[in-house]
Amino acid sequence: MVTIAPSILSADFGRLAEEVQAVTAAGADWIHVDVMDGHFVPPITIGPLVVAAIRRATQLPLDVHLMIEHPQEQLAEFVRAGASGITVHVEAPTDLPALLAAVRDTGVRSGLALNPSTPLDRVRPFVERIDLLLVMSVHPGWGGQPFVEGSLEKLGAAARLRRETGTRFLIEVDGGIKTHNAAPAAAAGADVLVAGSAIFESPDYAATIRALRGV
Ligand code: DX5
Ligand code: ZN
Repeated sequence: MVTIAPSILSADFGRLAEEVQAVTAAGADWIHVDVMDGHFVPPITIGPLVVAAIRRATQLPLDVHLMIEHPQEQLAEFVRAGASGITVHVEAPTDLPALLAAVRDTGVRSGLALNPSTPLDRVRPFVERIDLLLVMSVHPGWGGQPFVEGSLEKLGAAARLRRETGTRFLIEVDGGIKTHNAAPAAAAGADVLVAGSAIFESPDYAATIRALRGV
């Protein structure tokens, strides 16, 4: 069964703990946390203090997606704050093998993300060292954008890459996931569906999560 990870980027930040508790009660599997630094992407969102607050509001795994230029320097803080998995971008100007090793050393799930414009080949050298591959299906930075054409094909190619290399990473899709494209994304290869606006802008979180799951 597919894992549903609501992205709190689209939650009401004035009532963040309540929102996290609401999606937890509504059947979410993970909480997806979008960290942006104003450099890797234009917006600035949240830091470890807020991750720690979310950690206190739920028992669910916290799936922390770092859209930041210097993840190496921030990694330990996010793990201390309660991250269960840390995903870094293949496009980040950093020593990626060292970074992925550092993530694994902390004991949390190590994830690697790629933007819609980045070819899948860029992640190939790292597939042995990751627990999760995050396929971005919007250009990173904002919630509520339309699903980028071609993302289903990329998910299929990611699933083939996993088969060919005999690796076991989870495939996560992030961006523009709604009830109408959740099943095609899962069929194409996604194990984890991130959904922000689809859930938080819906009147009934539980019904939306059930619809995304296809049950
Ligand atoms: C975008 C973020 C996504 C975003 C998804 O940079 O990584 O997690 O919140 O939002 P929706 O589901 O609204 O596209
Ligand atoms: Zn994200």
